[in-house]
Amino acid sequence: MTNAIIIGGGSGMGLALARTLLAEGTHVTVVGRSADRLAAARARLEPLGPGGVDTFVADIGREEDVAALFARVEEVDHVAVTAADATGVYGRTADVATATARDVVATKLLGAWLVGKYADGRVKQSITYTSGINAYRPNGSNTIMSAANGALASLACGLAIELAPVRVNVISPGWVDTSLWDQLGMDKQAAFADLAERLPARRVGTPDDIAQAFSSVMHNSFMTGTVLHVDGGHRFT
Ligand SMILES: NC(=O)c1ccc[n+]([C@@H]2O[C@H](COP(=O)([O-])OP(=O)(O)OC[C@H]3O[C@@H](n4cnc5c(N)ncnc54)[C@H](OP(=O)(O)O)[C@@H]3O)[C@@H](O)[C@H]2O)c1
Repeated sequence: MTNAIIIGGGSGMGLALARTLLAEGTHVTVVGRSADRLAAARARLEPLGPGGVDTFVADIGREEDVAALFARVEEVDHVAVTAADATGVYGRTADVATATARDVVATKLLGAWLVGKYADGRVKQSITYTSGINAYRPNGSNTIMSAANGALASLACGLAIELAPVRVNVISPGWVDTSLWDQLGMDKQAAFADLAERLPARRVGTPDDIAQAFSSVMHNSFMTGTVLHVDGGHRFT
């Protein structure tokens, strides 16, 4: 049976991906920091597919956690990473705490690197990371997150060579309606309505839009070292 690890799969895009993979018959291990969030995700996922669901508490920014996650599996077909914490990152660089910036890099970039390090030899088919529109269309806010997201493209290219024939790719979502927005302290509905008018796709994204892209990248055996933009045309607004 095919198996997959989704780091950040307790909510949002990762949870949608877990639903998609389960429906395909894949066994899914959902990873995050909150045991409560994972238990809730597991309760929602278990009835959905024959593949089966495991959960594992880990912080992708902590080396011992990532090492423990991969030490418990002999082989895994696919690894997907959607983990990110945006608390405190929005605002001008001068106003963002340096500790927050370090946390963003530790989670989004070094965490992704740790996955490459500890998945080496265990992952058989693909690793897929999540960056974001702010890497390609910066907006004068959350610049440290833009930088970490942008760096994932280079990381994926390097790992695509190192880990070949394992394929390593990046999905870059535009704005997607998930719980991440609750951390930002803004009027989400007003921001979404304003953007939807300007986007070529005329709507913001759903977690399922991104899950479909993940599934396609994970299964396309000729795709590696690539960033796939799933942003409704946001780069051109
Ligand atoms: N939503 C958007 O509009 C948007 C746009 C562009 C890019 N993105 C990117 O898309 C990805 C998915 O975001 P989402 O919108 O689905 O957000 P979400 O619903 O907040 O999901 C993020 C998940 O990551 C987990 N997580 C956070 N920090 C972690 C850590 N250090 N270690 C392990 N797990 C961690 C969280 O669970 P715990 O808190 O329990 O750990 C949560 O379940 C992120 O990388 C984000 O930067 C989002």
